[in-house]
Amino acid sequence: MSKDKNRLLVCTRGKHCPKNGSLKIFEHLEKEVSLRETEIEVVPSKCLGMCKHGPAAVLLPEKKKYREVDKEKCKKILSRASKSSGKKKKKHD
Ligand code: FES
Repeated sequence: MSKDKNRLLVCTRGKHCPKNGSLKIFEHLEKEVSLRETEIEVVPSKCLGMCKHGPAAVLLPEKKKYREVDKEKCKKILSRASKSSGKKKKKHD
């Protein structure tokens, strides 16, 4: 695992997000990343503490949280991940 890559944690092992489709979102993100050749690693995760708003994801290293992730939000996440993470950004979206 490269330290230079952004990492996107997707809650696939929590109690709630899988019931709300997080596994499909995880698969969709992996596919999109492979097509785009984006410098981001999609990683399955345990509960991220946003259970009522799943599927949940967190983009590292900036710790940007995403709630109710759908395919439309995936585009936004991948776009953000491909940009520089040096600027100060909102913590929630
Ligand atoms: S079950 Fe997914 S954030 Fe808690």
